[in-house]
Amino acid sequence: MYLQCIKAIVFVQLVSSVQSQQCRQGCKCSAKVTICAFTQISGVPNNLPTAITALTISGSASSPNSFGHLSPSAFLSSRMSHLILRYCGIDAMDAGAFRALPELKTLNLEFNKIRILTQQSFQGLTKLTTLDLTGNNHCDIKPNAFNGLPTLLELRLGEMDLDTLDLNLLKSLHSLATLDLHGNKLKTLDWTVLSSLTNLKHIDLSGNQLTTIPSNMSTLFTQIETKKGSINLGNNLWKCNWEIKWMKNMSVSFSSVFSIGNIICNSPASLQYISLINVPDPKLEPILPKILYCDKTKVTVNEGSAVFINCTIKGDSTTVTWINPSGTSFVSSPLQQNGHNVYVNGSLYMSSTSSADRGNWTLSVSSKFGEDQRAVDINVILSTTTTTTTTTTTTTPIPTTVTTTTPTTTPITTPTTTPTTTPTIATTMSTASSKILTMSTVPLPTREPESPEAPNMLMYYAAGGGGGFLLLLLTIIICCLKCKKSGHVDDAERFDSVKTPRKTPRPRRVNVVPRSNSLKHAYY
Ligand SMILES: *[C@@H]1O[C@H](CO)[C@@H](O)[C@H](O)[C@H]1NC(C)=O
Ligand SMILES: *[C@@H]1O[C@H](CO)[C@@H](O)[C@H](O)[C@H]1NC(C)=O
Ligand SMILES: *[C@@H]1O[C@H](CO)[C@@H](O)[C@H](O)[C@H]1NC(C)=O
Ligand SMILES: *[C@@H]1O[C@H](CO)[C@@H](O)[C@H](O)[C@H]1NC(C)=O
Ligand SMILES: *[C@@H]1O[C@H](CO)[C@@H](O)[C@H](O)[C@H]1NC(C)=O
Repeated sequence: MYLQCIKAIVFVQLVSSVQSQQCRQGCKCSAKVTICAFTQISGVPNNLPTAITALTISGSASSPNSFGHLSPSAFLSSRMSHLILRYCGIDAMDAGAFRALPELKTLNLEFNKIRILTQQSFQGLTKLTTLDLTGNNHCDIKPNAFNGLPTLLELRLGEMDLDTLDLNLLKSLHSLATLDLHGNKLKTLDWTVLSSLTNLKHIDLSGNQLTTIPSNMSTLFTQIETKKGSINLGNNLWKCNWEIKWMKNMSVSFSSVFSIGNIICNSPASLQYISLINVPDPKLEPILPKILYCDKTKVTVNEGSAVFINCTIKGDSTTVTWINPSGTSFVSSPLQQNGHNVYVNGSLYMSSTSSADRGNWTLSVSSKFGEDQRAVDINVILSTTTTTTTTTTTTTPIPTTVTTTTPTTTPITTPTTTPTTTPTIATTMSTASSKILTMSTVPLPTREPESPEAPNMLMYYAAGGGGGFLLLLLTIIICCLKCKKSGHVDDAERFDSVKTPRKTPRPRRVNVVPRSNSLKHAYY
């Protein structure tokens, strides 16, 4: 009872006296405020004046304090409105660590080592207006960490090594006017959430890795201009292309908002280190989609084999699509889709072709600025029906060759068929007519498959009509007459005639005869 009384007297003295002796060392006490400031201490002092309104404990970068974790019992002053615990080595905060401080307006926890922030971390701070967490590296900020801070005006999350930030974290901060995210590793941001924060006035995004900002953010920037606020976008990795052309325009018209000259291009290489406002407008025009190159326009593969069509494309924000002959689209993706890979450079890979892949494929490269297309004909040779395929590919030469060998022209004028086609036509014959099959396979001299006469002779039989037959008879008769006259034709002469078919008509005729004879024998 007596003790309490003394305490009350001390309290009254403390509040009323301007320069009280009771004011703790390190504190300044006045009628209205008690401000304490400490540097090198190992924890929050446990006998702070209960009337304390502001407390600053600040270690330094070179010699931080080592508080470890903060518990709710550390603070027992219901009047405290400013709390600064800088470089204090705080690594964790108990749930409700600040709940004894309902009047707290400023909480500065700069350069500590706080590892996690949850909904409980700032419990009870319903009047908080400024929260500074700068320099707490590798802190796991849970999405609801700031849910209980409806009056927050200023949030500082700079130098926290953040590479992503779920801006839904900020959704409940309806009053937020200052957002500091400087010196992080942000590559992108959810700008839509930012633009929903209608009271934003100052944004610091300097020293991140941002490359672009969607043009519809111009409304947010206009809003900031209207409020005479500021946007710091310096020291990022701006990609100076059509996407941020609007920013050039804005930085000129809203010079008070943007720090002009602060937006330095990082890419493309040709514009590196150039300030966006100095980039000529034509360089900020979109690159239209274009297929620069594909290594094939037509490709023939066996069923089951792989196909690679190697292409290169250009264009801003393009979508690469390969459309198969039946109209199914394959969009570029790092993943394989049913054995098909479509690459962002326009290339197509099929691990195993099937009959469904046969036909015209279309490469389409499109963006909102235009489209470019190219067709590639993929001929898949089906493994089960090889003979049919061979027939279809070789039937056409037969009638054309036959027309050239009309009865008026003798065999001499028809070496149009190249020697190499001989085996193919032999195969054709075998499939085309079983009658001729027996005939053609037997007599064809295997020693001289390159002979140009062989196909010609076959043509006569292939033609099969009465004309052909008459011609054959005529040849036989000529042959017989000839044989009677000159007898045996020596091999050397024959060889010559083969090598130089147009040399003289004579040896050629001679050459034809023995062959037709042998064929005739086979035929009958
Ligand atoms: C801005 O445009 C993006 C697409 O580029 C869209 O997803 C977003 O919803 C837009 N935001 C606003 C606020 O209009
Ligand atoms: C550039 O800014 C002016 C207003 O300052 C606006 O009228 C114009 O549409 C803007 N152009 C672009 C491309 O954003
Ligand atoms: C595709 O073409 C490019 C350029 O011609 C070449 O460097 C590359 O090796 C080719 N890729 C494949 C897989 O053939
Ligand atoms: C396109 O990308 C594929 C897959 O990465 C690659 O194999 C190919 O060489 C590239 N083509 C060109 C022309 O660079
Ligand atoms: C394939 O496409 C090319 C070019 O578009 C066209 O000329 C050709 O007729 C097409 N072929 C088939 C079999 O559709």
